[in-house]
Amino acid sequence: MTDHQRNASIRLDAVTKVYGRYTALAESSFEVASGEIVALCGASGSGKSTAIALASLLVPPTSGEVDLLGTGWSGSTAGERRRLIARSVGMIFQEVNLVNHLSVGGNLTLVDDSVDPETVELMLDELGVASQRDKLPGRLSRGQRQRVGVARALGKHPRVVFADEPTASVDADSAHTITRMLRKVADSGAAVLLATHDRHAREIADRVIELGSDR
Ligand SMILES: Nc1ncnc2c1ncn2[C@@H]1O[C@H](COP(=O)(O)OP(=O)(O)OP(=O)(O)O)[C@@H](O)[C@H]1O
Ligand SMILES: [Mg+2]
Repeated sequence: MTDHQRNASIRLDAVTKVYGRYTALAESSFEVASGEIVALCGASGSGKSTAIALASLLVPPTSGEVDLLGTGWSGSTAGERRRLIARSVGMIFQEVNLVNHLSVGGNLTLVDDSVDPETVELMLDELGVASQRDKLPGRLSRGQRQRVGVARALGKHPRVVFADEPTASVDADSAHTITRMLRKVADSGAAVLLATHDRHAREIADRVIELGSDR
């Protein structure tokens, strides 16, 4: 094992995920170290979201090993994995999940007590959605919801960030802001795993992994 592999915050080792008769991810191996952005690229259906679900310990692999900040499936309980994610992991989902009965502000401060209110406030401002604070998520545009999701994920000073197409539904300026923020959290020590089609997002990555090209 190299130093890079040993120090990795995220590590997949020959990970395969099979749904029924369909192989969503085949023998995938990669690492993401602290301070690094790794972009997962590939056609729709190539397994980008699957790789993120596996790397974040939300979904168990059919075979192979996953390690997130020193925790894997063997020797950890569901509670330990949940606490690790709550404390140290920021998730930006492809479909932003916000509680529809709570305002934007409530979603950011009530749902997840790991987020730092001051940081979130600054991020909402930087993302141009600070004025949406009191609205219910259902009243926001898709792109505005996505930006709120970014503030929620990054506002907890995460050690690991999973970002599944975080710039897919926003305008070019917001996409720029989001990628710049991801670079900033990586530069301050987070490991970032990014699924993207976006050329600009690929450009900020330290490494690009093409999925599905060998199937
Ligand atoms: N829970 C599931 N049950 C069955 N099949 C699944 C499941 N999740 C993913 N798949 C299949 O696995 C393959 C990879 O899906 P995945 O969502 O990882 O692709 P993706 O690269 O993220 O695509 P996109 O760019 O459209 O977001 C697809 O063929 C999908 O239908
Ligand atoms: Mg996807």
